[in-house]
Amino acid sequence: MLNVLKHPLITHKLTQMRKKETGTKDFRQNLDEIAGLMAYEITRDLPVNAVTITTPVRECETSELAKDIILVPILRAGLGMVNGICNLIPTVKVAHVGLYRDEETLKPHVYFEKYPKGIEDAIVMIVDPMLATGGSAVAAIDMVKQQGAKNIRLVCLVGVPEGVAAVENAHPDVDIYLAALDEKLNEKGYIVPGLGDAGDRIFGTK
Ligand code: PRP
Ligand code: URA
Repeated sequence: MLNVLKHPLITHKLTQMRKKETGTKDFRQNLDEIAGLMAYEITRDLPVNAVTITTPVRECETSELAKDIILVPILRAGLGMVNGICNLIPTVKVAHVGLYRDEETLKPHVYFEKYPKGIEDAIVMIVDPMLATGGSAVAAIDMVKQQGAKNIRLVCLVGVPEGVAAVENAHPDVDIYLAALDEKLNEKGYIVPGLGDAGDRIFGTK
């Protein structure tokens, strides 16, 4: 299911990222902050266990998170969302999936993967700022499913209907969270209006 997280703070920060004059420092900082805000919204329904604890005053019934959370940034650009989420959920474990999109074919190529233990029972959050053709997201979901992941959420900043449809067709069990659903892809596979090349803007490589 697609969820577009409409929140004035998220949209304001995304607007700063979209501006072509925004430099690397502000681009990174806004991405970091949006990732944290999105994580807060997305984790509302996390499963919890009832526990009894003792405060300095008396015993009380409360709850704790029931499952591990594994964050899966798609390299490179997904790395820009890790800090913001780790600040909010310091116990997350982080997997890495390295994928790049061939500029001609737009097909994803895998160059790295590394996973923590326990992915089968964890809540898995795949993060990447951009959901364009959906090829990278579908490949990353295939990869974590191959490792046994069952409870998977895909968290992107900007998506387009083509990318959403690709993920929904290949993986109807995965919930998709976006900060904005943009209009379309251009002839080079870039999101319109989008924010340009996320990886290059985060790492200052262009
Ligand atoms: C970008 C982006 C996504 C992918 C989206 O990565 O971060 O991973 O493109 O496009 P898709 O939906 O059509 O697959 P890119 O391949 O440019 O690599 P980078 O993050 O290393 O720059
Ligand atoms: N990847 C990006 O970084 N930006 C786009 O617009 C599409 C894919």
